[in-house]
Amino acid sequence: MFPKVRQVYSGAKPSMHAPHSYVNALMPWYDSQSRDLPWRQKGQDHADPYGVWVSEIMLQQTTVAAVLDYYARFMARFPSVEHLASAPLEDVLHQWQGLGYYSRARNLHKAAQVVVSQYNGAFPACEKSLLALPGVGPYTAAAIASMAYNIPTLPVDGNVARVFARLFKIATPLPQLLGEVRSRMGAFTGHGPHHGDIAQALMDLGATICTPARPSCDVCPLRGLCQAFAASNTHAYPVKAPKKTTPHKWATAFVMRNTQGDVYIRQRPETGLLASLMEVPTTPWDTQEPGEFSPPVQGDWQRIPKPVTHIFTHFKLTVSVWLAEGVTQDPNLAGMWTPLSELSSHAFPTLMDKIFKSAGIKINTSS
Ligand code: ADE
Repeated sequence: MFPKVRQVYSGAKPSMHAPHSYVNALMPWYDSQSRDLPWRQKGQDHADPYGVWVSEIMLQQTTVAAVLDYYARFMARFPSVEHLASAPLEDVLHQWQGLGYYSRARNLHKAAQVVVSQYNGAFPACEKSLLALPGVGPYTAAAIASMAYNIPTLPVDGNVARVFARLFKIATPLPQLLGEVRSRMGAFTGHGPHHGDIAQALMDLGATICTPARPSCDVCPLRGLCQAFAASNTHAYPVKAPKKTTPHKWATAFVMRNTQGDVYIRQRPETGLLASLMEVPTTPWDTQEPGEFSPPVQGDWQRIPKPVTHIFTHFKLTVSVWLAEGVTQDPNLAGMWTPLSELSSHAFPTLMDKIFKSAGIKINTSS
């Protein structure tokens, strides 16, 4: 079907160690088994960079099946980068309707204008310049470079990374695995003239055979070279990153009310977490449960039975709340005694709202 591809790889026998053996094992499968997709030019040196670019941007968040109709309509409406660049943004967004993530369409439009104004309508033929286009990241730059310009590089997405992880038993979890695969892409690049075909063969292999669960190893063209298959543990790759445990901190908070019912509050430091917001006094937020502590003033301190919990970005806080009513004001305390009616004019974090609420005090918080 695509003799040019076959011709290149025929004759060389796959061996476990020669880098070209991976390509030799993979490409006949691609020639005969892979999907015919409208942006593909199998066996040819140059697919149309514009079509490759549009398809890769569409495929970023969407499946091949979902993209096919959109791609056909988009290419009919904007057949060249010049057509796209000169179209009103509304038309582009309209064609994108239903694909979602509209920033992709806006960037596509912007990048088309850059290609026309800075590159005279010809997409740059190097990854670095491609990367500078709006909306083009390392994956898309490598995809265009390999598919449209036959540059020996490899777009590495989750599918390709999984193939590599199993093939070479790479024990690095995602997302670091992507970088590790890029550093090993030499196993597939530089061993044939059609780098875009090699990239797309790996994509198809990952999407259809080397699937996350129950891969079809019995029909995999790379089975004889796959280290995970040889060790009967394809299921172990890619390795999962250990689950991050959220650190847990504890504190004790002191809600004090004087004989008029005013509440004692103070301002947090100007820097750091919840900077400058108001609070009630607490013990230091510690990674150990609080042991002995002394309240800020003497009083009839009652512990609120249910502690308050709050999740911050990097840790979880459990606060044991103590309440003392009718305390005598201590002139050494630098904060302010605030009537209930004035509490809402201060900026409290949500944590403090929860603490007040648990102590039977209701205010409106600002954050
Ligand atoms: N996913 C992203 N790019 C693709 C391509 N060129 N072919 C198939 N699947 C893809």
